[in-house]
Amino acid sequence: MNIDQVDYDGLIPNNVALGQDVRVKRALEKWHPGYLNWWNDMGPEGFQESLVYLRTAVSVDPKGWAKFDYVRMPEYRWGVLLAPQMEGRKVNFGTHKGEPAWQDVPGEYRAMLRRLVVIQGDTEPASVEQQRYLGKTAPSLYDMRNLFQVNVEEGRHLWAMVYLLQKYFGTDGREEAEALLQRRSGDPDTPRMLGAFNEKTPDWLSFFMFTYFTDRDGKMQLEALAQSGFDPLSRTCRFMLTEEAHHMFVGETGVTRVVQRTCEAMKEAGIKDPNEIEKVRKLGVIDLPTIQKKANLHFSLTLDLFGNEISTNAANAFHAGLKGRYREERLKDDHQLESGTYPVLRLIDGKIQNQDAPALSALNMRLRDDYVVDANAGVGRWNKVIESFGIPFEIKLPHVAFHRHIGEFSSIKADVNGHLMSDEQWKKHRGDFLPTDDDKDFIESLMRPQMEIGKFASWIAPPKVGIDNKSGDFEYVKIA
Ligand SMILES: [Fe+2]
Ligand SMILES: [Fe+2]
Repeated sequence: MNIDQVDYDGLIPNNVALGQDVRVKRALEKWHPGYLNWWNDMGPEGFQESLVYLRTAVSVDPKGWAKFDYVRMPEYRWGVLLAPQMEGRKVNFGTHKGEPAWQDVPGEYRAMLRRLVVIQGDTEPASVEQQRYLGKTAPSLYDMRNLFQVNVEEGRHLWAMVYLLQKYFGTDGREEAEALLQRRSGDPDTPRMLGAFNEKTPDWLSFFMFTYFTDRDGKMQLEALAQSGFDPLSRTCRFMLTEEAHHMFVGETGVTRVVQRTCEAMKEAGIKDPNEIEKVRKLGVIDLPTIQKKANLHFSLTLDLFGNEISTNAANAFHAGLKGRYREERLKDDHQLESGTYPVLRLIDGKIQNQDAPALSALNMRLRDDYVVDANAGVGRWNKVIESFGIPFEIKLPHVAFHRHIGEFSSIKADVNGHLMSDEQWKKHRGDFLPTDDDKDFIESLMRPQMEIGKFASWIAPPKVGIDNKSGDFEYVKIA
């Protein structure tokens, strides 16, 4: 079978010759009803019968892999799609560097590999759960469609990880696949595995910040796993990255449109000072300082996903050839890191400063640094919009020590510039940096649905171009 072609005949679209793999096919078919139950219980609330203009992956050819059409979400064709196998691919880092890439799980690394797959897999349904009520307050049909697109693709990412579990990890894999449907975001008894995926996504600005900042963590993790010497994981993640790009697009352009609408309204009203919050809010738009606070919140929660700066798990996964660095193939070193060092930001004698650590132990820190660079690029584009209106305000990412719950800075309090604060000071100033109840109430007051074709809520500008080149009056969701 041609790998670019997807087999659509069976229940589960795939390009992994599932038809000839009876054991795995049966296991997935058995898992399928539980998945649908989960989707119906925990997926987008209130719109399961609506027709949504969605893209579905029908090939893995980078030039034309998606087909757009109206679909009811529970009938979306969630499939198992892997990027094409590369002839002669090798393990490219760690102690096995230069050996042929593994097509089966290396026995000695089985537990470590399973854990990597499960942790990645757990984030996918978690974000669907976090976003399940947002459809009801969508600022337009265009945005609603984008939300649902992200949701069905996170569902497909869950399928992707479950395929790996079912195919390569036997009974344990089956149990893990079941458990992925049992945990629930924010549930006190059976929470999702990572902190940021148990937080709420209560409003659309949160959604845009989440897809900008947190899906971007997803990108970094997938990039690192796409380097894996375990070839099926690498191929799976490579195709997931194609879809992930749209999620970050939704976040980046979403925030851009919020910022733009705010600036437009300020200009129309003749307000030049971005700190005249009450005046700006009266215009029915979100003031820039509150947008900054939301960015502070989502950025800091996302940094926690990178784990401890110094990590034996990360070192082991790299050493074993299971999880590489961001763009490993472009880095110019020995790709084994037995001797090098890497500067790690630490708390030393009460001061935040760099200290060299063994490069192998500092891989989480390194991935986080790469992430911060990547995240900053879009922030620059938001600022360009503000600048074009001549408003003296700049959105800035907070210091990495700000509002942390994991790692080096979890035990201290710091402001957005990285200045240490006492608990007392933090309590007093928290509301200057993070959304207050007042801010949340105000944003919530704006979350009125706008479901008329071609119309947008007061607080967000229309997009520059439509999805799939559709015009402004296109009906992205036919609400049932
Ligand atoms: Fe995902
Ligand atoms: Fe995503």
